[in-house]
Amino acid sequence: MKKIAVMTTGGDASGMNAAIRAVVRTAISSGLEVMGILEGLHGLLHNQFIGMDMASVGGIINRGGTILHTVRSKDFHKKEVRKIAYAYLKDRKIDGLISIGGDGSRQGLYCITKETGIPSCFIPASIDNDVYGTDYTIGFDSAVNVGLDAIDKIRDTAASHQRIFIVEVMGREHGFVALEVGLTGGAELILIPEFKRDLNMKKIAEALNNGIRRGKNSSIIVMAEGVGRSSDFAKKIEMATGMETRYTVLGYIQRGGSPTAMSRKLALTFGYEAVKCLMKLKKKQSMMVGIQANKVKVMEMKSVLGRERAIDSAEYNMNKVFSL
Ligand code: F6P
Repeated sequence: MKKIAVMTTGGDASGMNAAIRAVVRTAISSGLEVMGILEGLHGLLHNQFIGMDMASVGGIINRGGTILHTVRSKDFHKKEVRKIAYAYLKDRKIDGLISIGGDGSRQGLYCITKETGIPSCFIPASIDNDVYGTDYTIGFDSAVNVGLDAIDKIRDTAASHQRIFIVEVMGREHGFVALEVGLTGGAELILIPEFKRDLNMKKIAEALNNGIRRGKNSSIIVMAEGVGRSSDFAKKIEMATGMETRYTVLGYIQRGGSPTAMSRKLALTFGYEAVKCLMKLKKKQSMMVGIQANKVKVMEMKSVLGRERAIDSAEYNMNKVFSL
């Protein structure tokens, strides 16, 4: 292997830059040439390659977002369009690929390897933490800490005004972010799509009213975006409890900002391991790096694709003990 390319795909996640830095510096130190593909799969379709050296990744370890940019590409789903991208990879003599992104992105990478034979390694990075095969994705911890900071602030207003507050967090159709933020933020209720039976308004009102009867004069509810609109829930909760209820949608604030130490460490480790793994791969091999029970693992993409990460129901139930 002589020349590899690296790209970031899907939604940006804090720590992607630290991962790019690790990939580029590990590859160059190992005698490889590295190119960056701008705008992920979209950029690959449009021949957007740039040369990368040690200096090109200087001063980015602490920066959120991705210096390589990212675009969600619909065109890549079309086989005839993908052929254009493959011609660019061949022209540029790319013989190894690394993609840093979320669950949807790894499918794209696997597809490239299957159709071109170019070996690849996937680095999971997403605030959603919904990638099967790894306990943590790059960016998750950073997003959780943003949520936590918001809750700590909102709690002051909730307590002062004796209100119920709903804090809506991102996470697509999963509740990993909401569960972690809710648990560590001491939320009275956590509403996530994985526990549909608890989304019943009668149950929610009963839980909150029990708290009010025991003297609680404010409550924090963390709600995953996949559950519905927090504005609708706020109105219903106010009617059911008689307590003033407000909501805050954190949205994209959770995606940006400086990565936490955990997100950076994961990014640096994954970036390093991905290059080391890629160098050993044969044609048509596609792998993924991840972390399981605190150990870095390298696994076959085939073994993880199409599988859903499950929410930890013990953690969810544990919060019920602490909360109301
Ligand atoms: O996957 C990351 C994420 O931020 C999700 O939590 C959210 O639902 C989605 O991306 C938003 O997507 P977009 O950036 O395309 O608006």
